[in-house]
Amino acid sequence: MPPSRNILCSGRLGVGTNHKGISMQIVMIGAGYVGLTTGTCLADAGHRVCCYDIDADRMARLSKCDIPIYQPGLEEAVSRTLHAGQLQFASSLDDCLADADIIFIAVGTPSRSDGDIDLSQVQAAARQIAAKLKPGALVVVKSTVTAGTCRQLKKLIATVRRSSDISVASNPEFLREGAAIDDFMNPDRVVIGADEPRAGAMLKTLFEPFINRGVPVVCTSTVNAELIKYAANAFLALKVGFINDVADLCEQAGGDIGPVAQGVGLDKRIGSSFLSPGPGFGGSCFPKDTRAFVATGRRLGAPQRLIETLVKRNEERKILLARRVIGEAGLRRGNTAVFLGLSFKAETDDVRDSAALTMIPVLQRAGISVKAHDPRAMNNARSLLDDVEYADCPYEAARGAAAVILLTEWEQYKSLDLAKLAKCMSGITLFDYRNVLMPEAAAQHGFRYVSLGRASLPPVPKATAGGTSASLWDEGMAANRNV
Ligand code: NAD
Ligand code: UGA
Repeated sequence: MPPSRNILCSGRLGVGTNHKGISMQIVMIGAGYVGLTTGTCLADAGHRVCCYDIDADRMARLSKCDIPIYQPGLEEAVSRTLHAGQLQFASSLDDCLADADIIFIAVGTPSRSDGDIDLSQVQAAARQIAAKLKPGALVVVKSTVTAGTCRQLKKLIATVRRSSDISVASNPEFLREGAAIDDFMNPDRVVIGADEPRAGAMLKTLFEPFINRGVPVVCTSTVNAELIKYAANAFLALKVGFINDVADLCEQAGGDIGPVAQGVGLDKRIGSSFLSPGPGFGGSCFPKDTRAFVATGRRLGAPQRLIETLVKRNEERKILLARRVIGEAGLRRGNTAVFLGLSFKAETDDVRDSAALTMIPVLQRAGISVKAHDPRAMNNARSLLDDVEYADCPYEAARGAAAVILLTEWEQYKSLDLAKLAKCMSGITLFDYRNVLMPEAAAQHGFRYVSLGRASLPPVPKATAGGTSASLWDEGMAANRNV
């Protein structure tokens, strides 16, 4: 990569360079959700970014602007920065490390079987780069890592180089999948964890455009930065777990979680986000990070009991909600159930730890056949789920089904043609485990509608579905249609 000092570039995504117009040479190790998004955004801000990933196939695809993950807006941004020469995908680290000012590590940190995190990818990345760094370069850990990791990596790199000239800083990432670019460009805060003043100063320079825009910056030690990331994810997951429990209570008390969550969330000290009930949180982050938080607490003698309970409750919830499908729809061996939504949330193709991965096998073990549809995640699900029949559209999936379970809040599902869906099915039970449909509309279309944290509705009889007064169908009759 040619040297590129003092290039001024406005940055189409809106970060802009800092006021001195400094363009840094940046290397991104790991080109997944975080590495690719961060690298692309920094390239768009005028820096020269070289992304490297050990997955050679991924690198080959990316060089042709073929984006292996679904992330709204990412393809356009990669294409623009690639063609502008700001972004490169390197097949070898030797091509880009010699000139690099800042090297981000954004590789995976999966769970180990004991719940703690597996740091082997991060350590391998540090070993890979250690000898090739230019003196004074800064290594920045973007991956989510447990407290003390940056300090360990500094020692590891110093051992390989026989010199401690390389600083290791922490810059945890708070982006959400599906909103990655927007979250990166408009962060609530930037956290800079540095144990050496020079490392902190370099990161402040890099993030100066954010600082100039008034984004709060927390400059602290590496250990604190590492703890901030875990505590933030644990707290957000706790909010989700809490509202799921409150939803269960609403059902038993004859309440409705909608107004309850609204009334609670309007308290500014609580806030209204992350108060939507669902089938249990999933994804590549909350489940793994809460497990790691628990494991760290145990290891360091400061047990995190709230989060321990949360982890357990969240996994139980997925199983209980699967059993509820069998029970409430009266499913029997040989029936077919249809899952709409396989990704752990909308706007991503990521199925890691999604509710579908736990719930589908529960139904299959009870002898129920499973069909599924997802606008983006079917390819990723195929390798993780056995014996599922995939369909190109929700209606095709629902053909002959005894029950439909809506698991992901995709826009496409919010505007389902309920009349068409009802006609395709043999049964009538619709489980809306994201509370995205209108209960009355579902009942009017002949569904027995089951959602979270509010009363289930029986189907409105056809003769009266136009709105005339009439008694409700005998639920027993409705249940008979299921078998
Ligand atoms: P990912 O699995 O999508 O990507 C990681 C990439 O690293 C993979 O492409 C893998 O091939 C590559 N890799 C592994 N070892 C490598 C090595 N030695 N050299 C080069 N490349 C290597 O993971 P992700 O979702 O981007 O997450 C990365 C880290 O960021 C994790 O620690 C995660 O917890 C954290 N994080 C993720 C998100 C998110 O929304 N996904 C948000 C914030 C933080
Ligand atoms: C989460 C955090 O929101 C990010 O700030 C963080 O950077 C990221 O983890 C990470 O550390 O990797 P993400 O996993 O993309 O981001 O997804 P979220 O939008 O947080 O949702 C997580 C899970 O909680 C999903 O299964 C979602 O459906 C569920 N959820 C979320 C609810 O059930 N209800 C809500 O109100 C909110």
